[in-house]
Amino acid sequence: MNTTADLDCRYRPKWHYSAQRNWLNDPNGLLYSNGVYHLFYQHNPEGDTWGNMSWGHATSVDLLHWEEQPVAIPCDDEEAIYSGSAVVDVRNTSGFGTSDNPPLVAIYTSAYTSGSPMAGLQAQSLAYSTDDGTTWTKYSGNPVLDRVSPDFRDPKVFWYDGDAGSYWVMVAVEAARREVVLYSSPDLLSWEYLSTFGPANATGGVWECPDLFELPVDGDVSNTRWVLVVNLSPGGIAGGSGGQYFVGKFDGVTFHSETTVTEGLQADDTRMAEYGWLDWGRDYYAAVSFSNVPGGRRLMIGWMNNWQYAAATPSDGWRSAMSLVREVKLVSRGGRPVLVQEAIDPFEGQGTELTLGRNRLEPGLTWLPEELSGDVLRIDAEFEPGHAGRVGIVLRADPQRDAATGVFSAGSERTVLAYSPATGELSLDRTESGNVGFHEAFPSVDRVAVPLEDGRIRVRIFLDRCSVEVFAQDGRATITDQIFPADSSAALALFAEGEGASLVSFAVVH
Ligand code: FRU
Repeated sequence: MNTTADLDCRYRPKWHYSAQRNWLNDPNGLLYSNGVYHLFYQHNPEGDTWGNMSWGHATSVDLLHWEEQPVAIPCDDEEAIYSGSAVVDVRNTSGFGTSDNPPLVAIYTSAYTSGSPMAGLQAQSLAYSTDDGTTWTKYSGNPVLDRVSPDFRDPKVFWYDGDAGSYWVMVAVEAARREVVLYSSPDLLSWEYLSTFGPANATGGVWECPDLFELPVDGDVSNTRWVLVVNLSPGGIAGGSGGQYFVGKFDGVTFHSETTVTEGLQADDTRMAEYGWLDWGRDYYAAVSFSNVPGGRRLMIGWMNNWQYAAATPSDGWRSAMSLVREVKLVSRGGRPVLVQEAIDPFEGQGTELTLGRNRLEPGLTWLPEELSGDVLRIDAEFEPGHAGRVGIVLRADPQRDAATGVFSAGSERTVLAYSPATGELSLDRTESGNVGFHEAFPSVDRVAVPLEDGRIRVRIFLDRCSVEVFAQDGRATITDQIFPADSSAALALFAEGEGASLVSFAVVH
């Protein structure tokens, strides 16, 4: 929730962060310090489309209620402030603070503009804060890492402490070459080349916003793997922007992938579904993780949009929101570690929960009671599809047109989450979700293969005015999509095709 925003604006999400006014894209500099989570982000302080890139700033103590702060790092005549990360320099290696008051250090991409002698190039720069993120000063020695490249960006920095030693590691991209480049530093000021990863797996667009972190497998800290996140645009699994991940080992110098399916640049990639994807919808991009989170939890946020149509989404003086915060873990499935994701849940212990018990779903539509309707809610549902053709939930439906007939009439609004036991696919169809005409790439049916478990499919769904986030089989697969329905399209229905199916449980929290 943006506690400082005007929540009455049309489509303004309640639980997904959006800037009070104007444009945002990638989450930047995610970090935790002294009881506060900081969310910086790509922001245009002057308008509701991309431009004047600066770091906006919001803070939260619970990852749910966000308070907008003044712009942290503004662009100037020489540079735009592109994406990057931030760290708590606990040992004051940079010397920007003291050992008693360690500095926060932001590592961002200087995208040099026409006022600069370096116009057209991208290099990595620092800004620091000694008042816990309130004010930021650019380092006088910027840039700290320059490859004389027009596409070198999005540094993610973390403290490595392992067999090879203890030092800062930066992962960044040579975006057009589809490469992740790694560097090390003792002090954040001077950087030494380590290695290059890629191109590999999905290469249908530029590589952007990488991340690299270690996680226990199945909670076993003696058995860890490293996860390399590589966002790319276009070339995502659902079309346009998307995030892929590799699982492997990092020896302090080189990332050794255990999940590389294809190497090099793929001209015609037919193996997309075999790669690891952070999300199978259209609207989860530039996802990166927080640093310095207590207890070693790995928390990520994505930009809930897609470069294909981001400039055209319906806007009311603000444009674009972040995803909910997601905790990610590695679990073994089919003998290999895969990411599972769980949203920090705004509805936990909140509101009224309305539950339906086990039910037989007859073929066709079953409209749910009006008190379950809404545009800000969480649904937990479990189905046993049996021999049904498809089974699922109709979200944000227009009750006026359809209630009487029990079937959908052409043009009536709805967003349909369906599971097909025949194909093993979960799909989210937003082709008739409301306003879909603002861009030809927007109407979509996004799909992911998810096997039934004990004959069942479980989904957790978050609706928040202009978005649907689906977590299937306890976060094994997610689908995130924006939707722009009429306020009045808020009805819910269940459906089954063919022989009908069983509903095991269904709960809605408002
Ligand atoms: C990703 C991205 C980054 C870049 C930023 C500019 O969405 O293109 O590569 O740093 O956005 O706003």
